[in-house]
Amino acid sequence: MFTSQGPTLRELAAQALSSIEDGYDLLAPKFDHTPFRTPDRMLRAVGDTLRDLGPFDAGLDVCCGTGAGVGALLPLCRERVTGVDFSTGMLAEARASVTGRVGGPAVEWVRADARDLPFSGAFDLAVSFGAFGHFLPAERPRLFAEVGRALRPGGVFAFPIGAPQPLTSPLYWALLGFDGVMRARNLLWRPPFVMYYRTFPLRDVREDLVRAGFTVRLRPLEEFGRRADGSPHWCLVEARKT
Ligand SMILES: C[S@@+](CC[C@H](N)C(=O)[O-])C[C@H]1O[C@@H](n2cnc3c(N)ncnc32)[C@H](O)[C@@H]1O
Repeated sequence: MFTSQGPTLRELAAQALSSIEDGYDLLAPKFDHTPFRTPDRMLRAVGDTLRDLGPFDAGLDVCCGTGAGVGALLPLCRERVTGVDFSTGMLAEARASVTGRVGGPAVEWVRADARDLPFSGAFDLAVSFGAFGHFLPAERPRLFAEVGRALRPGGVFAFPIGAPQPLTSPLYWALLGFDGVMRARNLLWRPPFVMYYRTFPLRDVREDLVRAGFTVRLRPLEEFGRRADGSPHWCLVEARKT
């Protein structure tokens, strides 16, 4: 799971005992060597699906980390691409990853909390990868409202979502166990580190998006195949600001 270039167990423990923001500051230099960075395969599948909905002028990657989603937005946006994250360390790595780039849309990095975005009607596309586990369900309405405010009317908020694991899958139990450990950690230790895998079910997410003023459509990411019942393993949520 972790390569020799990734964080040591000690470094991961130090991260997990910090706040989310400080934890990512610590992890930042090695983040791209962890399984937490969104894999290129997913970025490509999402980019290919979004291409059919474009072209776009201005794109926003919410909780951009070291810039995985920004890289996916570059070929889709004509004018500018913005990455927003609250970790200074992650933004420093992201900035370094595009240094020396020639041509294409302008790239900017903004340090802000996704629950309080400093944008209004500035983008026609927003994406987010691998970060929703950091938000409690009660925070979702505010997060979606902030992304909605950042978008122009008709703008699209898009993100991949995986099908729930069946009870028979070892992954189901692994994620349940992980969430249990994090809940225990957060009961016993301050500051909290909110990171849960099972708090983002499609039905609730869809309801919150609709309440925040989006119309929602699902696009299967065929690249990841289908389950025995024919449903896709992964979908792209296309939430359009009405
Ligand atoms: C698992 S990383 C994902 C990074 C990147 N999107 C990717 O897929 O590789 C989660 C990121 O979300 C950021 N994050 C978590 N909560 C945030 C918040 N409330 N506001 C802004 N960024 C946040 C963290 O700093 C971290 O960079």
